Amino acid sequence: MKDLTPPRDSLDPIEIASRDEIEALQIARLDRSLRHAYDNAPFYRAKFDAAGVHPDDFRSLADLAKFPFTTKQDLRDTYPFGMLAVPRDRIARLHASSGTTGKPTVVGYTRNDLEVWADVVARSIRASGGKAGDVAHIAYGYGLFTGGLGAHYGAEKLGCTVVPVSGGMTERQVMLIQDFKPQIIMVTPSYLLSILDAFRAAGIDPRDTSLDVGIFGAEPWTDAMRREIEEAFDMHAVDIYGLSEIIGPGVANECVETKDGLHIWEDHFYPEVIDPETGAVLPDGEMGELVFTTLTKEGLPMVRYRTRDLTRLLPGTARSMRRMEKVTGRSDDMIILRGVNIFPTQIEEQLFKCRGLAPHFQIELVRAGRMDAMVVHAEALPQAADETGRATSARELAQHIKSVIGVTAEIRVATPGGVARSEGKARRVVDNRGV
Ligand code: DLL
Repeated sequence: MKDLTPPRDSLDPIEIASRDEIEALQIARLDRSLRHAYDNAPFYRAKFDAAGVHPDDFRSLADLAKFPFTTKQDLRDTYPFGMLAVPRDRIARLHASSGTTGKPTVVGYTRNDLEVWADVVARSIRASGGKAGDVAHIAYGYGLFTGGLGAHYGAEKLGCTVVPVSGGMTERQVMLIQDFKPQIIMVTPSYLLSILDAFRAAGIDPRDTSLDVGIFGAEPWTDAMRREIEEAFDMHAVDIYGLSEIIGPGVANECVETKDGLHIWEDHFYPEVIDPETGAVLPDGEMGELVFTTLTKEGLPMVRYRTRDLTRLLPGTARSMRRMEKVTGRSDDMIILRGVNIFPTQIEEQLFKCRGLAPHFQIELVRAGRMDAMVVHAEALPQAADETGRATSARELAQHIKSVIGVTAEIRVATPGGVARSEGKARRVVDNRGV
């Protein structure tokens, strides 16, 4: 793989500023942002008043803990525009996240918010090793989902030649990668695996493509998956994180030279990690729920938004800004099976230990008598797809899950192509306990 480390003088000065400088900027911006929310969004005024806090109470970073949390439910309750802090006609774009039931959650951006968003995505692509002049193949979905358009404008801002393919039509993705010769691909890791299958089906070795780096996010993925992708494509695999409520992709990104967790762009998004039960702020280094306050958002400022993503904050390395560890999963995706907490990423890690299995999987929860049970649907690689090979892989995966995670899972190994593919975010857990 190529050395893609960006030259130090290409970075935004704040990325490598002293902690004192970063914190001074955060205090000034938080002060402004809390006032903006209080003065211009009746939702926040009511919420702060009810909690007995006022923006004047904010003097140091620790004071942020006095302010109430915001949740996804707040967005639902105020659907569609009730949390905006500017008149609707100043909103230049809307996005929405699908959600599993009912109405989506809607987010709005002013022109300035769109500029900031493009800046943080451009910074993220640069941290990943991308640069002006590169061709960027964008296979995140375009539309209300923030992945496609978020990546698009960031890549344009950095000076890339953007290929807005969106998700789907997997064989065509292969053709365009062959013909346009992109250096960068931006896509969910699970869809990249579908593209990988299509390369192999076409008899093309993915290691021979022009790709130097893949920028993967929108869903949790493990270091085991990173090794698999880097090996298969002979390219760097870098993690990008974000959520529509905060801005979209580009809240945090790994640096290609270290790949040691994601640097949070702390000049725009202030992170805290809290105990999900008590709401208490945890010291850096401790695992908990990630919470963000936006520092520069105009249209939809977010004060202490509970992401439900679980991770911990770590000191800066390649940049002065703090890192978040790769997200283990969302608290919503946590499976509690006979008292053991399990995240799909833990199953993913075990799956990659089994040489006869493809990287695709889905977890099904079923009711077995009065007990809950977990079925892992895995898929054999072509060279291990006969009955004996599949049975061996099933035993192997069951053993790894039992010995590392401590639960008994039923493993069903399908023949190649037997596990549903994703074109965007993979659906890792199917809950059939109620049916
Ligand atoms: O998924 C934004 C995005 C698009 C990020 C493209 C990265 C790349 P939402 O649809 O609002 O926004 O979903 C946000 O996805 O709270 C996490 O649970 C999950 N997520 C996003 N990035 C990562 C990641 C976009 N790198 C939700 N690792 C978040 C783990 C991620 N989970």
